[in-house]
Amino acid sequence: PGVDHPAETPTDHTGQAYPVESSYTMKWTREDVQRIMSQHNDPTAGPGENSLSDQVSMPDIPSDFPAMKDENGDPVWVWDTWPMTDEHGNQYSYKGWDVIFSLTADSKAGYTFDDRHVNARIGYWFRKKNRADDQWIYGGNVFGDRTPAHKAEWSGSTRIYPDGTIKLFYTDLDFADRNKPKAVIAMSEGRINADQDGVSFHGLDETTPLLEPDGVRYQNVEQNAYFNFRDPFTFEDPAQPGKTFMVFEGNTAGQKGDYQCQQSDLGDSGETPEDVTARGANHQMANIGLAVAENDDLTEWRYLDPILSANCVNDQTERPQFVIEKVNGEWQYYLYTISHAFTYAAGLRGPDGVYGFVGDGIRSDFKPLNGSGLALGNPSNLNYSPTDDRKNTRQYQSYSHYVMPDGLVESFIDNVDGRRGGTLAPTVRIDVEGTTSVVDRNVGDDGLLPYGFIPTNRSAGGPEVT
Ligand code: FRU
Repeated sequence: PGVDHPAETPTDHTGQAYPVESSYTMKWTREDVQRIMSQHNDPTAGPGENSLSDQVSMPDIPSDFPAMKDENGDPVWVWDTWPMTDEHGNQYSYKGWDVIFSLTADSKAGYTFDDRHVNARIGYWFRKKNRADDQWIYGGNVFGDRTPAHKAEWSGSTRIYPDGTIKLFYTDLDFADRNKPKAVIAMSEGRINADQDGVSFHGLDETTPLLEPDGVRYQNVEQNAYFNFRDPFTFEDPAQPGKTFMVFEGNTAGQKGDYQCQQSDLGDSGETPEDVTARGANHQMANIGLAVAENDDLTEWRYLDPILSANCVNDQTERPQFVIEKVNGEWQYYLYTISHAFTYAAGLRGPDGVYGFVGDGIRSDFKPLNGSGLALGNPSNLNYSPTDDRKNTRQYQSYSHYVMPDGLVESFIDNVDGRRGGTLAPTVRIDVEGTTSVVDRNVGDDGLLPYGFIPTNRSAGGPEVT
Protein backbone atom coordinates (compact mmCIF):
# COMPACT_ATOMS: atom_id res chain seq x y z
CA PRO A 1 0.00 0.00 0.00
CA GLY A 2 1.42 3.34 -1.04
CA VAL A 3 4.60 1.70 -2.30
CA ASP A 4 5.27 1.66 -6.05
CA HIS A 5 6.42 -1.68 -7.31
CA PRO A 6 8.67 -1.98 -10.33
CA ALA A 7 7.69 -4.27 -13.17
CA GLU A 8 8.41 -7.95 -12.65
CA THR A 9 11.76 -9.25 -13.78
CA PRO A 10 11.32 -12.27 -16.03
CA THR A 11 13.18 -15.42 -15.00
CA ASP A 12 13.08 -18.98 -16.25
CA HIS A 13 11.69 -20.14 -12.92
CA THR A 14 8.02 -21.06 -13.20
CA GLY A 15 6.92 -21.02 -9.54
CA GLN A 16 5.32 -24.43 -10.16
CA ALA A 17 4.89 -26.75 -7.15
CA TYR A 18 6.21 -30.33 -7.01
CA PRO A 19 5.18 -33.13 -4.65
CA VAL A 20 6.83 -32.51 -1.31
CA GLU A 21 8.24 -36.07 -1.21
CA SER A 22 9.75 -35.71 -4.70
CA SER A 23 13.41 -35.05 -5.40
CA TYR A 24 12.92 -31.72 -7.18
CA THR A 25 15.27 -29.03 -5.86
CA MET A 26 15.05 -25.46 -7.13
CA LYS A 27 18.41 -24.12 -8.23
CA TRP A 28 19.26 -20.54 -7.34
CA THR A 29 21.52 -19.93 -10.32
CA ARG A 30 24.46 -17.72 -11.15
CA GLU A 31 22.24 -16.10 -13.78
CA ASP A 32 19.72 -15.20 -11.05
CA VAL A 33 22.43 -13.63 -8.87
CA GLN A 34 23.98 -11.73 -11.80
CA ARG A 35 20.78 -9.64 -11.83
CA ILE A 36 21.97 -7.97 -8.61
CA MET A 37 24.77 -6.29 -10.56
CA SER A 38 22.80 -5.78 -13.78
CA GLN A 39 19.58 -4.43 -12.21
CA HIS A 40 20.19 -3.18 -8.67
CA ASN A 41 23.72 -1.79 -8.77
CA ASP A 42 24.77 1.69 -9.88
CA PRO A 43 28.17 1.31 -11.56
CA THR A 44 28.83 5.05 -11.17
CA ALA A 45 28.50 5.05 -7.35
CA GLY A 46 31.69 6.58 -5.99
CA PRO A 47 33.97 5.49 -3.13
CA GLY A 48 32.07 4.91 0.12
CA GLU A 49 28.67 5.35 -1.49
CA ASN A 50 25.84 2.86 -1.59
CA SER A 51 25.69 1.36 -5.08
CA LEU A 52 22.49 -0.62 -4.42
CA SER A 53 19.08 0.71 -5.47
CA ASP A 54 16.70 2.04 -2.79
CA GLN A 55 14.31 -0.75 -3.75
CA VAL A 56 16.56 -3.36 -2.13
CA SER A 57 18.73 -1.50 0.35
CA MET A 58 18.27 -1.02 4.05
CA PRO A 59 18.40 2.62 5.20
CA ASP A 60 21.55 3.64 7.10
CA ILE A 61 21.53 2.79 10.81
CA PRO A 62 22.73 5.79 12.86
CA SER A 63 26.13 5.13 14.43
CA ASP A 64 24.89 6.35 17.86
CA PHE A 65 22.63 3.31 18.26
CA PRO A 66 21.72 2.21 21.84
CA ALA A 67 22.90 -1.13 23.32
CA MET A 68 20.76 -3.75 25.08
CA LYS A 69 21.73 -4.23 28.73
CA ASP A 70 21.24 -6.52 31.71
CA GLU A 71 19.86 -5.41 35.12
CA ASN A 72 23.31 -4.07 36.12
CA GLY A 73 23.49 -1.86 33.08
CA ASP A 74 26.15 -4.01 31.38
CA PRO A 75 25.71 -4.67 27.65
CA VAL A 76 24.61 -8.19 26.70
CA TRP A 77 25.80 -9.07 23.22
CA VAL A 78 22.85 -10.08 21.07
CA TRP A 79 22.67 -11.45 17.56
CA ASP A 80 20.20 -13.92 15.91
CA THR A 81 16.78 -13.18 17.45
CA TRP A 82 13.30 -14.67 17.09
CA PRO A 83 9.83 -14.42 18.65
CA MET A 84 7.48 -17.16 19.98
CA THR A 85 5.48 -18.47 17.04
CA ASP A 86 2.78 -20.97 16.11
CA GLU A 87 2.70 -23.29 13.08
CA HIS A 88 1.79 -20.36 10.82
CA GLY A 89 4.44 -17.88 11.96
CA ASN A 90 2.05 -15.80 14.10
CA GLN A 91 3.88 -14.04 16.93
CA TYR A 92 2.64 -14.46 20.51
CA SER A 93 2.65 -12.46 23.69
CA TYR A 94 2.09 -14.41 26.93
CA LYS A 95 -0.17 -13.03 29.67
CA GLY A 96 0.55 -9.52 28.44
CA TRP A 97 4.34 -9.89 27.97
CA ASP A 98 6.11 -9.85 24.62
CA VAL A 99 9.02 -12.32 24.63
CA ILE A 100 12.00 -12.77 22.30
CA PHE A 101 14.90 -15.23 22.18
CA SER A 102 18.41 -14.21 21.12
CA LEU A 103 21.81 -15.75 20.72
CA THR A 104 23.75 -13.94 23.43
CA ALA A 105 27.27 -13.72 24.80
CA ASP A 106 28.85 -12.07 27.81
CA SER A 107 30.36 -8.74 26.73
CA LYS A 108 32.64 -8.75 29.83
CA ALA A 109 34.15 -12.23 29.49
CA GLY A 110 37.33 -11.07 27.77
CA TYR A 111 36.74 -12.31 24.22
CA THR A 112 35.84 -10.16 21.24
CA PHE A 113 32.46 -9.85 19.54
CA ASP A 114 33.83 -11.90 16.64
CA ASP A 115 34.58 -14.79 19.02
CA ARG A 116 31.00 -14.89 20.23
CA HIS A 117 29.90 -17.89 18.15
CA VAL A 118 31.66 -20.57 20.21
CA ASN A 119 30.28 -18.96 23.37
CA ALA A 120 26.68 -18.52 22.23
CA ARG A 121 23.84 -19.09 24.70
CA ILE A 122 20.15 -18.64 23.96
CA GLY A 123 18.94 -15.83 26.17
CA TYR A 124 15.50 -14.27 26.39
CA TRP A 125 14.04 -10.81 26.85
CA PHE A 126 10.57 -9.55 27.68
CA ARG A 127 8.62 -6.32 27.96
CA LYS A 128 4.99 -5.32 28.24
CA LYS A 129 3.12 -6.10 25.06
CA ASN A 130 3.03 -3.44 22.33
CA ARG A 131 5.46 -1.09 24.09
CA ALA A 132 7.90 -0.46 21.28
CA ASP A 133 9.56 2.36 23.23
CA ASP A 134 10.22 0.33 26.41
CA GLN A 135 13.60 -1.36 26.91
CA TRP A 136 13.69 -5.13 26.55
CA ILE A 137 14.27 -6.67 30.02
CA TYR A 138 16.94 -9.37 30.08
CA GLY A 139 15.73 -12.72 31.47
CA GLY A 140 19.01 -14.68 31.31
CA ASN A 141 19.80 -18.00 29.60
CA VAL A 142 16.78 -20.17 28.80
CA PHE A 143 18.79 -23.30 29.66
CA GLY A 144 20.44 -21.78 32.73
CA ASP A 145 24.03 -23.04 32.87
CA ARG A 146 23.40 -26.64 31.82
CA THR A 147 25.29 -26.40 28.52
CA PRO A 148 28.97 -27.35 29.01
CA ALA A 149 31.68 -24.84 28.08
CA HIS A 150 32.78 -26.72 24.94
CA LYS A 151 29.27 -26.44 23.51
CA ALA A 152 27.36 -23.56 21.95
CA GLU A 153 23.66 -22.98 21.38
CA TRP A 154 22.92 -21.70 17.88
CA SER A 155 19.67 -20.64 16.14
CA GLY A 156 16.76 -21.18 16.48
CA SER A 157 12.99 -20.91 16.60
CA THR A 158 10.44 -21.30 19.39
CA ARG A 159 6.97 -22.81 19.13
CA ILE A 160 4.35 -21.90 21.73
CA TYR A 161 1.16 -23.93 22.35
CA PRO A 162 -2.15 -22.74 23.86
CA ASP A 163 -1.41 -24.43 27.23
CA GLY A 164 1.93 -22.65 27.64
CA THR A 165 4.07 -25.53 26.37
CA ILE A 166 7.26 -24.35 24.69
CA LYS A 167 9.26 -26.33 22.12
CA LEU A 168 12.57 -24.65 21.57
CA PHE A 169 14.25 -25.81 18.36
CA TYR A 170 17.92 -24.94 18.12
CA THR A 171 21.34 -26.11 16.98
CA ASP A 172 23.45 -27.96 19.50
CA LEU A 173 27.10 -27.28 18.56
CA ASP A 174 29.93 -29.29 20.08
CA PHE A 175 33.39 -27.73 19.75
CA ALA A 176 35.25 -30.33 21.87
CA ASP A 177 37.30 -31.02 18.72
CA ARG A 178 37.71 -27.56 17.22
CA ASN A 179 38.70 -29.08 13.87
CA LYS A 180 35.61 -31.23 13.74
CA PRO A 181 32.65 -29.36 15.22
CA LYS A 182 29.49 -31.42 15.61
CA ALA A 183 26.14 -29.85 14.75
CA VAL A 184 22.88 -31.43 15.84
CA ILE A 185 19.43 -29.96 15.25
CA ALA A 186 17.75 -30.42 18.61
CA MET A 187 14.68 -29.54 20.63
CA SER A 188 14.02 -28.85 24.29
CA GLU A 189 10.47 -28.87 25.64
CA GLY A 190 9.32 -26.94 28.69
CA ARG A 191 6.85 -24.31 29.84
CA ILE A 192 6.58 -20.54 29.96
CA ASN A 193 5.40 -18.82 33.15
CA ALA A 194 4.55 -15.20 33.74
CA ASP A 195 3.51 -12.97 36.63
CA GLN A 196 3.48 -9.23 37.18
CA ASP A 197 7.28 -9.19 37.57
CA GLY A 198 8.04 -10.90 34.31
CA VAL A 199 8.56 -14.12 32.41
CA SER A 200 10.42 -17.34 33.25
CA PHE A 201 10.92 -20.74 31.64
CA HIS A 202 10.68 -24.10 33.38
CA GLY A 203 11.45 -27.68 32.53
CA LEU A 204 13.80 -26.99 29.61
CA ASP A 205 16.15 -29.45 31.32
CA GLU A 206 16.72 -31.92 28.53
CA THR A 207 17.65 -31.73 24.91
CA THR A 208 16.34 -34.23 22.35
CA PRO A 209 18.59 -34.63 19.30
CA LEU A 210 16.48 -34.54 16.11
CA LEU A 211 18.74 -34.50 13.06
CA GLU A 212 22.41 -34.88 12.22
CA PRO A 213 23.72 -34.29 8.71
CA ASP A 214 23.56 -37.62 6.86
CA GLY A 215 26.30 -37.01 4.27
CA VAL A 216 23.82 -38.13 1.59
CA ARG A 217 21.47 -35.19 1.26
CA TYR A 218 23.24 -32.87 3.71
CA GLN A 219 27.00 -32.47 3.99
CA ASN A 220 28.69 -33.57 7.22
CA VAL A 221 31.93 -32.68 8.99
CA GLU A 222 33.80 -35.65 7.49
CA GLN A 223 33.12 -34.21 4.04
CA ASN A 224 33.92 -30.60 4.91
CA ALA A 225 35.17 -29.22 8.23
CA TYR A 226 33.40 -25.94 7.33
CA PHE A 227 30.02 -27.56 6.66
CA ASN A 228 26.90 -25.59 7.56
CA PHE A 229 24.05 -27.40 9.29
CA ARG A 230 21.76 -25.44 11.59
CA ASP A 231 18.86 -23.01 12.14
CA PRO A 232 15.67 -25.15 12.33
CA PHE A 233 12.34 -23.42 11.61
CA THR A 234 9.13 -25.48 11.89
CA PHE A 235 5.79 -24.76 10.23
CA GLU A 236 2.65 -26.31 8.77
CA ASP A 237 1.67 -26.22 5.14
CA PRO A 238 -2.00 -25.11 4.87
CA ALA A 239 -2.30 -27.43 1.87
CA GLN A 240 -1.26 -30.45 3.98
CA PRO A 241 -2.89 -29.87 7.38
CA GLY A 242 -1.69 -31.92 10.33
CA LYS A 243 1.88 -32.36 9.13
CA THR A 244 4.78 -30.39 10.55
CA PHE A 245 7.76 -29.52 8.37
CA MET A 246 11.13 -28.01 9.15
CA VAL A 247 13.45 -25.96 6.97
CA PHE A 248 17.09 -25.54 7.95
CA GLU A 249 20.48 -24.39 6.64
CA GLY A 250 22.55 -27.11 4.94
CA ASN A 251 25.16 -27.76 2.31
CA THR A 252 24.97 -30.15 -0.63
CA ALA A 253 26.52 -33.46 0.45
CA GLY A 254 29.84 -34.71 -0.95
CA GLN A 255 33.55 -34.29 -0.31
CA LYS A 256 34.51 -30.61 -0.41
CA GLY A 257 35.79 -29.76 -3.89
CA ASP A 258 34.55 -32.93 -5.61
CA TYR A 259 31.48 -31.36 -7.14
CA GLN A 260 31.63 -30.31 -10.78
CA CYS A 261 29.45 -27.26 -11.43
CA GLN A 262 26.53 -28.02 -13.76
CA GLN A 263 24.93 -25.95 -16.49
CA SER A 264 21.76 -25.99 -14.36
CA ASP A 265 23.67 -24.25 -11.53
CA LEU A 266 24.68 -21.51 -13.95
CA GLY A 267 21.47 -20.94 -15.90
CA ASP A 268 22.20 -18.59 -18.75
CA SER A 269 25.12 -16.85 -17.03
CA GLY A 270 27.35 -16.71 -20.08
CA GLU A 271 29.97 -18.92 -18.42
CA THR A 272 30.85 -22.58 -18.81
CA PRO A 273 30.57 -25.11 -15.99
CA GLU A 274 34.23 -26.08 -16.50
CA ASP A 275 35.48 -22.49 -16.14
CA VAL A 276 33.34 -21.84 -13.09
CA THR A 277 34.56 -25.07 -11.46
CA ALA A 278 38.17 -24.19 -12.28
CA ARG A 279 37.71 -20.85 -10.49
CA GLY A 280 36.74 -22.75 -7.33
CA ALA A 281 33.04 -21.90 -7.32
CA ASN A 282 32.34 -25.57 -6.48
CA HIS A 283 33.39 -24.83 -2.89
CA GLN A 284 30.20 -22.79 -2.38
CA MET A 285 27.43 -25.35 -1.97
CA ALA A 286 24.55 -24.02 0.16
CA ASN A 287 21.17 -25.60 0.35
CA ILE A 288 17.90 -25.18 2.24
CA GLY A 289 16.97 -28.49 3.79
CA LEU A 290 13.55 -29.93 4.46
CA ALA A 291 12.41 -32.52 7.00
CA VAL A 292 8.98 -33.80 8.05
CA ALA A 293 7.94 -34.73 11.59
CA GLU A 294 7.07 -38.38 12.12
CA ASN A 295 5.16 -37.88 15.38
CA ASP A 296 2.95 -35.27 17.04
CA ASP A 297 5.55 -34.57 19.75
CA LEU A 298 7.92 -33.36 17.01
CA THR A 299 10.71 -35.53 18.45
CA GLU A 300 11.15 -37.76 15.36
CA TRP A 301 11.98 -36.37 11.95
CA ARG A 302 12.67 -37.72 8.49
CA TYR A 303 14.80 -35.99 5.86
CA LEU A 304 13.37 -34.95 2.52
CA ASP A 305 15.43 -33.61 -0.36
CA PRO A 306 16.51 -29.98 -0.15
CA ILE A 307 14.06 -27.44 -1.56
CA LEU A 308 16.71 -25.02 -2.81
CA SER A 309 20.37 -25.37 -3.72
CA ALA A 310 22.95 -22.69 -4.44
CA ASN A 311 25.70 -24.94 -5.80
CA CYS A 312 28.53 -22.87 -7.30
CA VAL A 313 26.58 -19.75 -6.23
CA ASN A 314 26.80 -19.25 -2.46
CA ASP A 315 27.90 -21.30 0.58
CA GLN A 316 25.34 -20.16 3.14
CA THR A 317 21.57 -19.91 3.01
CA GLU A 318 20.98 -19.25 6.72
CA ARG A 319 17.94 -19.05 9.01
CA PRO A 320 15.49 -20.13 6.28
CA GLN A 321 11.80 -19.53 6.99
CA PHE A 322 8.46 -19.65 5.19
CA VAL A 323 5.81 -16.95 5.09
CA ILE A 324 2.72 -18.53 3.51
CA GLU A 325 -0.05 -16.20 2.34
CA LYS A 326 -3.27 -16.47 0.43
CA VAL A 327 -3.13 -14.26 -2.65
CA ASN A 328 -6.26 -14.12 -4.87
CA GLY A 329 -7.49 -17.36 -3.32
CA GLU A 330 -4.24 -19.30 -3.87
CA TRP A 331 -1.55 -20.05 -1.30
CA GLN A 332 1.76 -18.42 -2.10
CA TYR A 333 4.89 -19.70 -0.40
CA TYR A 334 7.52 -17.08 0.35
CA LEU A 335 10.83 -18.63 1.33
CA TYR A 336 13.29 -16.23 2.98
CA THR A 337 16.92 -16.81 3.90
CA ILE A 338 19.88 -14.64 4.86
CA SER A 339 23.26 -14.68 3.20
CA HIS A 340 26.60 -12.93 3.16
CA ALA A 341 28.69 -10.92 0.71
CA PHE A 342 31.69 -13.12 1.55
CA THR A 343 29.98 -16.49 0.98
CA TYR A 344 29.29 -15.88 -2.74
CA ALA A 345 31.18 -18.06 -5.20
CA ALA A 346 33.98 -16.71 -7.39
CA GLY A 347 32.69 -14.23 -9.95
CA LEU A 348 29.48 -13.26 -8.12
CA ARG A 349 28.70 -10.25 -5.94
CA GLY A 350 25.87 -9.49 -3.58
CA PRO A 351 25.36 -7.80 -0.20
CA ASP A 352 24.74 -9.20 3.28
CA GLY A 353 21.00 -9.35 3.77
CA VAL A 354 17.69 -11.07 3.06
CA TYR A 355 16.99 -13.12 -0.04
CA GLY A 356 13.47 -14.21 -0.98
CA PHE A 357 11.83 -16.70 -3.32
CA VAL A 358 8.16 -17.41 -4.10
CA GLY A 359 6.41 -20.49 -5.42
CA ASP A 360 3.12 -22.38 -5.39
CA GLY A 361 4.16 -24.92 -2.72
CA ILE A 362 6.84 -25.67 -0.17
CA ARG A 363 8.72 -27.52 -2.93
CA SER A 364 8.60 -25.35 -6.04
CA ASP A 365 10.58 -23.95 -8.89
CA PHE A 366 10.74 -20.80 -6.76
CA LYS A 367 10.95 -17.44 -8.52
CA PRO A 368 13.67 -15.31 -6.95
CA LEU A 369 12.19 -12.01 -5.68
CA ASN A 370 13.15 -9.07 -7.88
CA GLY A 371 14.73 -11.47 -10.38
CA SER A 372 17.86 -12.09 -8.32
CA GLY A 373 16.43 -13.04 -4.92
CA LEU A 374 17.80 -9.92 -3.21
CA ALA A 375 15.09 -8.34 -1.05
CA LEU A 376 17.01 -6.34 1.59
CA GLY A 377 20.74 -5.65 1.46
CA ASN A 378 23.02 -3.59 3.64
CA PRO A 379 24.22 -0.32 2.10
CA SER A 380 27.18 -1.60 0.09
CA ASN A 381 29.40 -0.58 -2.77
CA LEU A 382 29.51 -3.56 -5.07
CA ASN A 383 31.81 -1.73 -7.48
CA TYR A 384 34.67 -2.35 -5.06
CA SER A 385 35.74 -5.43 -3.16
CA PRO A 386 34.49 -5.65 0.45
CA THR A 387 38.09 -5.20 1.62
CA ASP A 388 38.84 -2.20 -0.61
CA ASP A 389 39.26 1.21 1.08
CA ARG A 390 36.46 2.46 -1.15
CA LYS A 391 33.93 0.04 0.36
CA ASN A 392 30.77 1.31 2.05
CA THR A 393 31.42 1.31 5.81
CA ARG A 394 27.88 0.08 6.43
CA GLN A 395 28.25 -3.08 4.34
CA TYR A 396 28.03 -5.17 7.52
CA GLN A 397 25.71 -2.84 9.44
CA SER A 398 23.23 -5.58 10.30
CA TYR A 399 22.61 -9.26 9.79
CA SER A 400 20.56 -12.29 10.74
CA HIS A 401 17.30 -10.80 9.62
CA TYR A 402 14.00 -12.47 10.40
CA VAL A 403 10.86 -11.69 8.41
CA MET A 404 7.72 -11.13 10.50
CA PRO A 405 4.03 -10.63 9.67
CA ASP A 406 3.29 -7.64 7.39
CA GLY A 407 6.83 -7.69 5.97
CA LEU A 408 8.49 -6.32 9.12
CA VAL A 409 12.14 -7.40 9.32
CA GLU A 410 14.23 -7.45 12.49
CA SER A 411 18.00 -7.98 12.63
CA PHE A 412 21.01 -7.27 14.84
CA ILE A 413 23.64 -4.55 14.44
CA ASP A 414 27.09 -5.87 13.58
CA ASN A 415 29.26 -2.96 12.40
CA VAL A 416 28.12 0.59 11.65
CA ASP A 417 30.93 2.69 10.30
CA GLY A 418 33.44 0.85 12.49
CA ARG A 419 31.34 0.83 15.68
CA ARG A 420 30.59 -2.77 16.66
CA GLY A 421 27.09 -3.71 17.73
CA GLY A 422 25.74 -6.84 19.28
CA THR A 423 22.32 -5.29 19.84
CA LEU A 424 19.03 -5.25 17.94
CA ALA A 425 18.82 -3.04 14.86
CA PRO A 426 15.95 -0.77 13.88
CA THR A 427 13.23 -2.91 12.32
CA VAL A 428 12.44 -2.17 8.68
CA ARG A 429 9.64 -3.21 6.36
CA ILE A 430 9.65 -4.80 2.94
CA ASP A 431 6.50 -4.40 0.88
CA VAL A 432 6.08 -7.67 -1.00
CA GLU A 433 3.74 -8.02 -3.97
CA GLY A 434 3.87 -11.05 -6.24
CA THR A 435 7.48 -11.54 -7.30
CA THR A 436 8.75 -8.07 -6.37
CA SER A 437 9.55 -6.34 -3.09
CA VAL A 438 10.38 -2.76 -2.16
CA VAL A 439 11.98 -1.48 1.05
CA ASP A 440 9.23 0.70 2.53
CA ARG A 441 10.63 4.17 3.30
CA ASN A 442 7.18 5.51 4.25
CA VAL A 443 7.21 3.83 7.67
CA GLY A 444 9.07 5.04 10.78
CA ASP A 445 11.94 7.47 10.33
CA ASP A 446 12.57 7.27 6.57
CA GLY A 447 12.05 3.53 6.80
CA LEU A 448 13.64 2.88 10.20
CA LEU A 449 11.18 1.65 12.83
CA PRO A 450 12.22 1.44 16.52
CA TYR A 451 15.26 -0.60 17.59
CA GLY A 452 14.25 -4.18 18.40
CA PHE A 453 10.66 -3.62 17.23
CA ILE A 454 9.24 -7.18 17.32
CA PRO A 455 5.47 -6.82 17.74
CA THR A 456 3.04 -9.66 18.44
CA ASN A 457 -0.17 -10.32 16.51
CA ARG A 458 -1.59 -13.04 18.83
CA SER A 459 -1.78 -13.57 22.59
CA ALA A 460 -1.63 -16.69 24.76
CA GLY A 461 -1.90 -17.58 28.45
CA GLY A 462 -5.28 -16.00 29.19
CA PRO A 463 -5.71 -12.84 31.28
CA GLU A 464 -2.86 -10.34 31.26
CA VAL A 465 -0.89 -10.10 34.50
CA THR A 466 1.26 -7.10 33.66
C1 FRU B 1 23.70 -16.36 11.49
C2 FRU B 1 24.39 -17.56 12.10
C3 FRU B 1 23.41 -18.69 12.24
C4 FRU B 1 23.97 -19.44 13.42
C5 FRU B 1 24.56 -18.34 14.27
C6 FRU B 1 25.80 -18.73 15.00
O1 FRU B 1 24.00 -15.17 12.10
O2 FRU B 1 25.48 -17.94 11.32
O3 FRU B 1 23.32 -19.45 11.08
O4 FRU B 1 22.95 -20.14 14.05
O5 FRU B 1 24.84 -17.27 13.41
O6 FRU B 1 26.30 -17.69 15.77
